[in-house]
Amino acid sequence: MRRAIVPGTFDPVTSGHLDVIERAATLFDELIVGVAFSKAKNGGPLFPVGERVAFIEQATAHLPNVSVQAFDTLLIDFAHEVGASVAVKGLRAMTDFEREFQMAALNWRLDSKIETMFIMAIPEYMYLSSSAVKEIARHGGAVRGLVPDVVCEALERKVNEAR
Ligand code: PNS
Repeated sequence: MRRAIVPGTFDPVTSGHLDVIERAATLFDELIVGVAFSKAKNGGPLFPVGERVAFIEQATAHLPNVSVQAFDTLLIDFAHEVGASVAVKGLRAMTDFEREFQMAALNWRLDSKIETMFIMAIPEYMYLSSSAVKEIARHGGAVRGLVPDVVCEALERKVNEAR
């Protein structure tokens, strides 16, 4: 049984994340998307962890070998807890590389048996990030297609609440 995790903050999940999850789901028997609480990042996430989990659950409902869990521990400890030996991350442009390289090296230092594997973003999603999506939504721009529909609606609600 080959089991992997796809860890991230997913605030919110984008079409780029989903593409990586879908492709990783074909490579492993079981895939667990790990949603980090990430309380401190950039003043805290826009969506509470429960909502971020629910968005991914809805957007991956068609993938029978994918499940979603929140985690508030080290990535390595989460991998141990769920019995996974691989952490899959999406990689966009070179700009991602340094941060990802550092995280992979630190995780390797913590437990060299947990392998980090990168899946390249397809050209269509190379430019896409959760931060960019939030920025576009905040200014009233169109995010349909950049995120699953459920996230699109939630972003519209957030923007209207803030008005
Ligand atoms: O979506 P992101 O911001 O790239 O995800 C980053 C994440 C959640 C994978 C990373 O912050 C993480 O692994 N957090 C868990 C805490 C941890 O293990 N830190 C040490 C590894 S550098």
